[in-house]
Amino acid sequence: MERLLVTGGTRLRGSIAISGAKNAILPLLAGSLLSERPVVLEGVPSLIDVKTMKDALESLGVKVNWTGDTMQIDPSSLRSLEVPPTLARRMRASNLVMGPLLGRCGRFKVSYPGGCTIGSRPMDLHLKGLRACGAVIDDDHGCITAEAAGLQGADIHLDFPSVGATENIMMAATLARGTTIIRNAAREPEIVELQNFLNKLGARIRGAGMDTIRIDGVKKLNQEIAHRVIPDRIETGTFMVAAAITRGEVLINNVIPEHVEAVTAKLREAGVSIKEEDDRIIVTAPSNWKAVDIRTMPFPGFPTDMQPQMMVFLALAQGTSIITENIFENRFRHVGELRRMGSQIRLEGRSAVITGIKDLTGTVVEATDLRAGAALVLGGLAAENTTIIEGVQHLDRGYENLESRLKMLGAQVSREII
Ligand code: EPZ
Repeated sequence: MERLLVTGGTRLRGSIAISGAKNAILPLLAGSLLSERPVVLEGVPSLIDVKTMKDALESLGVKVNWTGDTMQIDPSSLRSLEVPPTLARRMRASNLVMGPLLGRCGRFKVSYPGGCTIGSRPMDLHLKGLRACGAVIDDDHGCITAEAAGLQGADIHLDFPSVGATENIMMAATLARGTTIIRNAAREPEIVELQNFLNKLGARIRGAGMDTIRIDGVKKLNQEIAHRVIPDRIETGTFMVAAAITRGEVLINNVIPEHVEAVTAKLREAGVSIKEEDDRIIVTAPSNWKAVDIRTMPFPGFPTDMQPQMMVFLALAQGTSIITENIFENRFRHVGELRRMGSQIRLEGRSAVITGIKDLTGTVVEATDLRAGAALVLGGLAAENTTIIEGVQHLDRGYENLESRLKMLGAQVSREII
């Protein structure tokens, strides 16, 4: 078993560069299935989840060559339309192949990824949208099979602006006959990135980033392209909090400041100084910071993927903060671990009431999911003595070389195998 040892008390200083976005690269990899020509992706982060999506594409017969941060994908060798259940269960986002397979080949078979630690995460909105485009879907015994003798454009209103459902419907509609309108669509930057990528391949999509997206179906995608993925806004937010919680000063490069506006606003409200420049941000922390209230919302609201990281920061604020989690019904599993470090957090339904304390204390804690793991690392950086974090495999799913980059900023972090 691997675990991280984090010794707190060092003010982080220096500069780092942000990697490509996990939640953008996964739909781009799935989206490449729509094309009949080679695709090159650049800025690909070395993450477990990216590896899993690569395995999923290869299980469908697609050739993938991954060197450094570049991936060459040849979707012309696609030969299977069924993702092995082991892969589907390993990563929820493998369900993003549904839309492209249906769009290009009129069929797919995938297993239900099942719930995850942060919530039940049904796929009803994905299936409702694909059915509206004419797919006949059988969803039975944990398996989803779909067939469509030619997808048709449709006018789809999403009950909730689901990121995954918006992405799957966009990809299916790309090769459908006629026009598809997605209303109450997700507006996350990853949706805009997927639109830009598909349009480069020859698709005709407009409106991503707003709540109505229009897709005019085309016959096929056959542009050979190279595309650099956008930087990871959640990784950016995580390093912003790392600088703030250690009372440090950090220059973060390869950033799109607009993508982290909600995080910037809350850190400023707490008293952190944040300077935005074209593609970088400078975070300078005060010696003490104020309590603030946060509600997680779909983009451009405050991202749920930054909720645990902000919670540990507010555990050391002056005053009482309230965080309300509106996206996932079970995303407070890090609270028990933060309490073990001495934090004072009370749960009331979908809200956490956080009474700020002076110091956290290092102890043995466990990461229950990716962002919970990030919060424990941040807590360890601020805590007195050493924090031992178990469950680091969760961190490796979404953060590239986390400890070596923290070390570049002066942190005392090491990984041990026991
Ligand atoms: C994406 O998940 C991200 N994952 C998540 O990041 C992120 O937390 C989430 O969007 C919200 O921002 C990737 O992009 C790979 P949703 P996704 O569909 O697409 C409900 C991380 O830490 N819902 O927008 O699965 C659902 O249960 C991960 O990097 C339905 O009810 O999120 C949830 O409560 C974690 N029916 C809400 O909508 C559906 O058919 C938002 O889910 C689909 C979703």
